Amino acid sequence: MAQQRPLERSPCSERVRRFCTRTMDLQTTETVKEGGEGEERGRKRRPEEEEDKEETSSNRKQVADHSVKVASHYNRLQEVGLAARSQSRIFFMRNFNNWLKSVLIGEILEQVRGAGSRQVSVLDLGCGKGGDLLKWRRGGINHLVCADIAGVSVEQCQSRYEEMKRKSHVNEKIYSAQFITADCSKEVLSEKLDDPKLMFDICSCQFVFHYSFESEQKANVMLRNACERLKPGGYFIGTTPRCLRTC
Ligand SMILES: C[S@@+](CC[C@H](N)C(=O)[O-])C[C@H]1O[C@@H](n2cnc3c(N)ncnc32)[C@H](O)[C@@H]1O
Repeated sequence: MAQQRPLERSPCSERVRRFCTRTMDLQTTETVKEGGEGEERGRKRRPEEEEDKEETSSNRKQVADHSVKVASHYNRLQEVGLAARSQSRIFFMRNFNNWLKSVLIGEILEQVRGAGSRQVSVLDLGCGKGGDLLKWRRGGINHLVCADIAGVSVEQCQSRYEEMKRKSHVNEKIYSAQFITADCSKEVLSEKLDDPKLMFDICSCQFVFHYSFESEQKANVMLRNACERLKPGGYFIGTTPRCLRTC
């Protein structure tokens, strides 16, 4: 792993730092803890969690840290169709989260364009399976970098992007994209960019940041990845769960 350079104290990193300080007290809704410790009370176990229960204690010791567990949890999640999704316990919460992200993305793109940016580049930090690809398409951005710790999710995200491109109208200019599998709380993303000089107008981190609060060191690397390549005056947008609401 590359040596971490000290985080620059730009106004942007200060804003992100304040965001994180505000949310340090969060109680996550999706954090998967080893051995069920800290698990939400009264929540039914999902099938993949039943698999976790079957892990022997020696297996558990081999799980280096929380990141490995998080990656394998998301890698195991199956993509299901709309019919199955609508039966999910969290169907309405997902819809609400998607609405929230659409509004946030729409508003921030307006501000970026209002400030005169023509070629808009975005970093989707913790992109998952590409739930926001269509939102960025609607927003007419020019370039997207998608990064996530879960390799299977990144592959699915890339396939969705390629399918979206393939199915688009010949006259529609779909943004270009790069896909990176990386633990963004440990690895420096700027070193993995195809274009080493790329700077972002927006860093979007949706329902991800809380995973890095396992340690201050991890939170700092995540912050560095969020801020390091933001253009001066660029925006960080993020959502993170709290015990009572999403902020
Ligand atoms: C709740 S999902 C959100 C996915 C996507 N942002 C969305 O809104 O649809 C959380 C995502 O964070 C990713 N994640 C968790 N820890 C991470 C880390 N250290 N580095 C990169 N991604 C991480 C997970 O793999 C998962 O895809």
